[in-house]
Amino acid sequence: MKPHPHHHAVIGHRAPLRLSRQRRYLVYAVGWLLWLSGALWLLFHYALMQKGEFGDTPHPLEPWWLRLHAAMAFGALWTFGLVWGAHVVAGWRTGRLRWSGATAVGVLTWLALSGYLLYYLGDERWRSLTSVAHWVAGLALPAMLALHIVLGRRRARRS
Ligand code: HEM
Ligand code: HEM
Repeated sequence: MKPHPHHHAVIGHRAPLRLSRQRRYLVYAVGWLLWLSGALWLLFHYALMQKGEFGDTPHPLEPWWLRLHAAMAFGALWTFGLVWGAHVVAGWRTGRLRWSGATAVGVLTWLALSGYLLYYLGDERWRSLTSVAHWVAGLALPAMLALHIVLGRRRARRS
C-alpha cells in the first residue's frame, strides 16, 4: 500500500502535531462560534431581559443563541475528536506542554459533561449551579487555550 501523502511529515518532528491549515481553521471557527454564542446568550439573558407588564420576558433573540450554541457544541465534540487524534496523543508523547494541554482537555471534558447535564437536570438548584459552573469554565476556555498556544509557539521557535 502506498503511504498516505501526509505521512512524510513524520520526518520533521514538529509536523505530526500540527493540524493542516483547513482543519485548524475549522477548529478555530467552531470554537469561536461556540464561545460567542454562549457569551451572547449570557449577555441577552442577564442584561437584556425585557421588563414587561407581566414580569420579565426574554429577548426574542435569546433562544436563538442557545440553538446556535447547541449546534456548535455538536461541532465542537466532532472537532475535539479531530484534535485528539491528530494532536493530543502525539503531543503527549513528546512530554512537552503537558500541563497546559491537559488543562484544556480537562476543561473541554467538563464543558461536554456539564452541557449534557443541563438538558436533564430537573432540580432547579442543581441546574443553576451546573449552569454557572459550565459557563464560568466556558468563558475561561479561550484564555487557557491561548496560554497553551503561546507556550507552544515559543517552544517551536526555539527548536
Ligand atoms: C494533553 C493534551 C495536549 C498536549 C500534550 C499538547 C501538546 C502540545 C505541544 C507539545 C505543542 C507544541 C507543538 C510544537 O512544538 O510544535 C502544542 C501546540 C499547540 N496545541 Fe496542543 N497539546 C494538547 C492539547 C491541545 C488541545 C486540546 C488543543 C486545542 C483544542 C491544542 C491546540 C494547540 C495549538 C493550536 C498549538 C499551537 C500550534 C502552532 O501554531 O504551532 N492542544 N501542543
Ligand atoms: C465543548 C464545549 C461545550 C459544550 C459541549 C457545551 C454544551 C452546552 C449544552 C448542551 C448546553 C445546553 C443547551 C440548551 O439548554 O439548549 C449549553 C448551555 C450553555 N453553554 Fe455551553 N457548551 C460548551 C462550551 C461553552 C462555552 C465555551 C461557553 C462560553 C461562554 C458556554 C456557555 C453556555 C451557556 C451560557 C449556556 C446556557 C446555560 C443555561 O441554560 O443556563 N458553553 N452548553
